[in-house]
Amino acid sequence: MAKGRTSRDLAPGAALAGPVTLRSYEPHDFSALYRLDQACFPAGISYSKTMLNYFLKLPSADCLVATEVSRIVGFILTEENPPLAHIITLDIAETHRRRGAGTALLGESERNLSLRGVRTILLETAIENEVAIAFWQRHGYGIEAMLKRYYLGRLDAYEMRKRLVPPKSAPHPGEKN
Ligand SMILES: CC(C)(COP(=O)(O)OP(=O)(O)OC[C@H]1O[C@@H](n2cnc3c(N)ncnc32)[C@H](O)[C@@H]1OP(=O)(O)O)[C@@H](O)C(=O)NCCC(=O)NCCS
Repeated sequence: MAKGRTSRDLAPGAALAGPVTLRSYEPHDFSALYRLDQACFPAGISYSKTMLNYFLKLPSADCLVATEVSRIVGFILTEENPPLAHIITLDIAETHRRRGAGTALLGESERNLSLRGVRTILLETAIENEVAIAFWQRHGYGIEAMLKRYYLGRLDAYEMRKRLVPPKSAPHPGEKN
């Protein structure tokens, strides 16, 4: 997991419906994340090792991975400055798409961010990435703006935004729910 964060907010081994499990990023995961990102995005949009390493080491970064047995099949990388957070990337292996792994990673990440005071999450996605746009819209992200020539100086992107509902505070002992 990125420096400066602990796994305190991630239920250990939180399991999905299938044999996929969520956990916090560990430094030995780096190569697998790099390969997955290269496979998920076209050259130039995928991150170089230097950039991926830079983001993972930001004190404000957080990264969760989805594993099947010991293989990493997805990850989400975020950066936060409450009340704002930014989704840097969400990558699911092609073999594991449309099985809820992206939803599970996003849900866990949103819960953790919300508990740390985040109220708004932003992200960018290429306007040609129809699958991603459908995924984000399904999860309550709306298109806020068009960012002209955002990728590679020529591909347009949408900025998308979601407002989080603050978590309900736990009732005090003896207090009615
Ligand atoms: C976008 C991505 C993260 C989705 O992950 P996933 O694990 O396949 O998504 P889920 O199975 O949780 O899907 C949740 C919902 O998103 C939408 N969705 C996901 N894939 C879709 C597709 N191919 N076509 C249309 N809608 C889709 C659907 O509403 C889906 O719900 P449903 O299956 O009940 O219809 C994945 O396709 C991916 O990694 N793509 C390449 C990298 C990328 O584009 N990342 C996002 C941009 S930062």
